[in-house]
Parts: sequence; structure tokens; C-alpha cells
Amino acid sequence: MVKPNSVRVRVPAKVNLSLGVGPLRDDGFHELATVYQALSLYDEVEVTDRADGRGLHLTVAGRESATVPDGQGNLAWQAAAMAAHVFHRPPDLTITIDKGIPVAGGMAGGSADAAAVLRACGHLWDPQGHPEFELMELAAQLGSDVPFALLGGTAVGTGRGEVVTSAMGSGEFHWVLALSEGQLPTPAVYRRIDEIRADREVPAPTIDPSVLLAVRTGDAVALGAALRNDLQPAACALMPVLEMLLDLGPEHGALGSIVSGSGPTCAFLVADEDAALELAVALSASGLCRAVRRATGPVAGASIVEELSV
Ligand code: C5P
Repeated sequence: MVKPNSVRVRVPAKVNLSLGVGPLRDDGFHELATVYQALSLYDEVEVTDRADGRGLHLTVAGRESATVPDGQGNLAWQAAAMAAHVFHRPPDLTITIDKGIPVAGGMAGGSADAAAVLRACGHLWDPQGHPEFELMELAAQLGSDVPFALLGGTAVGTGRGEVVTSAMGSGEFHWVLALSEGQLPTPAVYRRIDEIRADREVPAPTIDPSVLLAVRTGDAVALGAALRNDLQPAACALMPVLEMLLDLGPEHGALGSIVSGSGPTCAFLVADEDAALELAVALSASGLCRAVRRATGPVAGASIVEELSV
């Protein structure tokens, strides 16, 4: 049989169930204590090793793809270059990214694509199946959220977010995501939180144990009450409409409402599919967001869904 030279990888979005932001470190990052959950909004990334000496090609398709860089500015490109270096292979790859994850929304879509490329290269270039911890190390160099996109599920993140450990969980949680107009660059949101907290000592970040307990027992009511994001005041200060959006959650049955990561997507935890539909309709009708999606979590991290010989 001909060895497949192309793989398709499916990779999920993430939401932070808890995002504790500590002091600014000397390296320009903030110490984090976070709980990630992977949600069923996916990018599909196809990676083909052409082995023709003609270098890297990257194209982006799908929802909102026009705003995504298709060259070196794309983290997936950097992931491919790094993997080629580490695997001692020429980067003769064609990468096609089909976006299903909201672009620039605080749901780690760019990090997800980088993780997908690492997963693909590990599979294509290492017949033994590449050790996961080595892919994790590469992922950590690419960005704070990239290791979690490989791991998936629900996980605790420490360091700058890149040190991830799976959390025990049961059941399925239902989410509604409100995609806001405009963008909130992540560094700007972190800078704003530093300004907001400039007059006080910032303690080391922590995770409220009730978040992990709710995840473990599959208790959506308890999880809704425990959702927390230290970046939320900064995101809302930069984009006041987020406050109005978040307020719609409890009015329409949400168990918890939170800005996703650095925003501007708002994530609402609901009891079940019916509640999700009801809230999605209300959010759409509000005119306060540009689109609404429904999703469940946790789901698996970057996974190979198809192998091809092309
Ligand atoms: O790691 P990543 O490339 O996703 O980070 C993007 C930016 O977000 C960083 O350059 C930094 O400004 C900010 N950031 C931070 N602390 C973290 C993660 C990200 O300040 N733990």
C-alpha cells in the first residue's frame, strides 16, 4: 500500500471556564491559572507533503477566512516551519485551513490551526507516531494556547497557559457563543488589565476548586455559578457592548455568562439544547452581536480524521 502523504486534522475551539491572571512577568507574559474546555466548533486543516522542493503553501477557506493571514503571519505557517526544522524535512507542504472557529474571537482559532499542523507533521513524518510530549514542547513555543489545542477535553493550564494537565470530567456542557463586531487584540486586553490593577498588588493566580468539582460531577448549574475571567473587566472596558451582551444571559436562562479568553466572543453556559436554542434566538434578535453559534464541550483535541495518498 502507498504510504499516505496527506492528512486531514480536526481541531476544536476553546473557552476558559476560569481565567486567573497574575502579575506581569519579566518576559512580557502574565502568570495564569486557567481551566480550558474544548468546544465543538472546529477548524479542519489538511496537510499534504508534496516532497517536490517547492516549499510551503498555505490557503485559508471557510467562514470569515478573508481576515486570516495566509503567509508567514499565520501561526500554522510558523508551526510547519518549526516542525520541518525539528524533523529534518524540507517544508514542502500544502496546508489548507477551513475555518469553523470564530476568527479573532478569543477562542484560540489561530492556536488551533498551529496545533493541527503539528499533529499532521508528527503523523506524516514520524512512522512510529511522534511522542506527544515533544509535540507539546513545540506547541508551547508557538503560543500559550497551542498545547491545549493538542490535548483537548477539559484541562488546567498554568505558566503562561502552556503547561496543561487534563482534568477529570463527566457529562456534556451546552454553550452558546455570541460573536461580537470588531476585534480585541489580546496584548491590548492584557495591557488594560494591568492598567486597571496598577494601584494594587496582584496576587498569584488561582483556580476556584468549585470549577473543577463542577466539571468532575457534570453539574452545569454549579459550573455556571463558578465561571470567572479576570480579563473580563478589561475586555468590557475596551468594548462596552460586551457588558450588555453578558446581561442578556441570565434574562434568557443562561446558567453563567462570561467573556471567552481575551474576547470579544461571549460564552453562555446553558442547561440543555432547548435552552441553547432559546438563548441563541434572543441573542440574535438583540442586534448586539454579529453571529451566534451553539456548541458542546468537552471534545477531543487536534485529531486526524482522514489519511489520503494524493
Ligand atoms: O502566547 P500568545 O502568542 O497567545 O500571546 C499573545 C499575547 O497575549 C502576548 O504577546 C501577551 O501580550 C499576551 N499574553 C500575556 N500573558 C499570557 C498569555 C498571553 O500577557 N499568559
